[in-house]
Amino acid sequence: MIPFIQDCVTSVLTDWKSRRDIVTYPECKQMAFRISACALIGIKPNEHKIGEMHEIFEDFTRSIFSIPVNFPGFGFRQALKAKKQLHAIIREVIADVQKGPSTPVMTAIFKSSEALGEDREESLIEVVVDLLFAGHETLASATTNSVMFLGQRKDVVKKLLDEIRHKLCYEQNDMVVDGYDCATDSLSFQKINELKYLNNVVNEVLRLLPPAGAGYRKVLKSFELGGFLIPKGWVVMYGIRDTHITSPVFENAADFDPDRWADIDASSSHGHNKARFQFLPFSYGARGCIGKTFAQLVLKIFIIELVQQCEWQLRNDRPKIRFAPMPVPADNLTIAVKPRTVK
Ligand code: HEM
Repeated sequence: MIPFIQDCVTSVLTDWKSRRDIVTYPECKQMAFRISACALIGIKPNEHKIGEMHEIFEDFTRSIFSIPVNFPGFGFRQALKAKKQLHAIIREVIADVQKGPSTPVMTAIFKSSEALGEDREESLIEVVVDLLFAGHETLASATTNSVMFLGQRKDVVKKLLDEIRHKLCYEQNDMVVDGYDCATDSLSFQKINELKYLNNVVNEVLRLLPPAGAGYRKVLKSFELGGFLIPKGWVVMYGIRDTHITSPVFENAADFDPDRWADIDASSSHGHNKARFQFLPFSYGARGCIGKTFAQLVLKIFIIELVQQCEWQLRNDRPKIRFAPMPVPADNLTIAVKPRTVK
């Protein structure tokens, strides 16, 4: 999976370097859709259906948060139409995928739908739509915001480059080799996870602009919180973005500061500076994100390749952020890109 994600990212960045101005958000959306469709569902990377599916998906998501009135001219009507087209195309895709070896994700979905004895085709289609939706919008937001934060902080890019070259190159063969070729030839899950500063940068992007800003849960058993009784049956909303900004663990919480993660343990819930329930971009528990590891992998590969291959300038250094449906710069983040010359 790693070589495939790397190829996909590299072909996008090669295209960026050959053009003058790039409008980052729509580009990242296309990239995230292609990666999710191919790596998770098993659609062939050169399949012409991917572009068509993405366009229909765009119609679907544009109209999804609309007043539920099924009448011509209303967004809801358009969303239903797009959903129908999407189901037809995914039906064909599943039939194709079933002919060849399927991805681990699809194998798991095939197995569970058999075990549940549900209407296999319909439930498969719903799951595929869910995966593509949950996967590509979130990744598009996080990759776009990474380009923005790193574009604002050349010092962070420099530190990333130092770490990547040191960990992926120097330690490998005791000699100074060109960082990019070296990294490209040798990325592995284990090596990527050794890049601690990269992990801190990803945490910081997801802390400041978590793609899912909040979540909902139904109360199964009454409980008390801060002196208030929350009754069984209520639906409560938990704030992800609000928690990240108000938690005492994060000093100067509005600053983009990857170094803060040197002293914070994101996975532990005990003691001073333990941030398990203060940092929850993927939520927790039985309904937490199933795509967490995949998403972190894609983000890390994207950043590794971006900083090594490109130098870029933000046309608008401090864009306003729009938060619905996912947080991204309101102007879609136009950047000027050129191949990296200074390592
Ligand atoms: C940076 C990227 C991502 C972020 C920040 C993110 C965040 C989240 C969050 C917060 C939830 C829980 C929502 C709730 O409270 O109900 C969730 C659920 C989910 N995520 Fe992700 N996600 C990301 C990427 C992905 C990817 C790539 C996939 C596809 C494999 C995915 C698939 C899902 C699914 C299927 C659920 C629903 C799980 C359930 O209800 O049991 N996500 N995600």
